[in-house]
Amino acid sequence: MTPLLPPRVLLLGGTTEAAAMARALAEAGVEAVYSYAGRTGSPVAQPLPVRIGGFGGAEGLAAYLRAEGITHLVDATHPFAAQMSRNAVKACAATQTPLIALEREPWQAGEGDRWTHVPDPAGAVAALGQAPQRVFLAIGRQTLDAFAAAPQHHYLLRLVDPPTEPLPLPLAEAVIARGPFTVAGDRALLSDHRIEVIVAKNAGGAGAEAKLVAARDLGLPVILIDRPWVPDRPVARTVAEVMAWL
Ligand SMILES: NC(=O)c1ccc[n+]([C@@H]2O[C@H](COP(=O)([O-])OP(=O)(O)OC[C@H]3O[C@@H](n4cnc5c(N)ncnc54)[C@H](OP(=O)(O)O)[C@@H]3O)[C@@H](O)[C@H]2O)c1
Repeated sequence: MTPLLPPRVLLLGGTTEAAAMARALAEAGVEAVYSYAGRTGSPVAQPLPVRIGGFGGAEGLAAYLRAEGITHLVDATHPFAAQMSRNAVKACAATQTPLIALEREPWQAGEGDRWTHVPDPAGAVAALGQAPQRVFLAIGRQTLDAFAAAPQHHYLLRLVDPPTEPLPLPLAEAVIARGPFTVAGDRALLSDHRIEVIVAKNAGGAGAEAKLVAARDLGLPVILIDRPWVPDRPVARTVAEVMAWL
């Protein structure tokens, strides 16, 4: 019988969940590599060896899995990082590498919430309507372009890094901050900027939920963008579930 090799994990990161996963792997002494896309200027330090940058599509990832002797892949990317998750499913199928996603539950509306669900950023633009509004656009930097179609609104953005290029929105201001955020802080932000409507992605998770609770407290409407499609794959909701799977 061939002896079982000790696991060597590739952890696809960039989220609070991935940081918790990295801590658990490091504490358990599991050999693992943490992978960042390299989108932010100052990525959070991790208790694991870190690699930064794309792999070169599903094929590039498959080659990496083989070259690095990866035995398990944990996809703890953001629920809106769908391209990376699709590539992970493909590459793991091609290399027969076991895959699990560590993914937050989507948020569900509760009493007092005034949510409109839309399938994508273009749907959010349509839902904002024609009349100018003061909008908290809490969707990060990458999908701002869709809102250039509605330049009449005033947009408040919250970004991890200061923008390096002019924003595609004529009436916009950016606050630079990295989550997790608090309800009190987000209530103050919404009030200080006289926000009338919030546009957010249905990311799920505790750290980004503060704005939704703050919106409920202030009676503000929220336009919530649904998660993009990713293929079926095993999903864990907690770090402990992933550790048991390993
Ligand atoms: N999208 C969001 O709203 C959001 C929010 C918070 C954090 N993040 C984090 O930001 C990163 C990028 O997100 P995204 O939405 O741009 O992803 P994406 O659109 O799904 O991915 C685009 C490409 O970026 C590379 N990539 C993405 N995540 C990577 C990772 N963890 N390690 C190495 N390469 C990665 C891959 O390039 P190749 O094809 O060359 O391999 C991928 O094809 C992810 O780590 C994600 O967890 C995203």
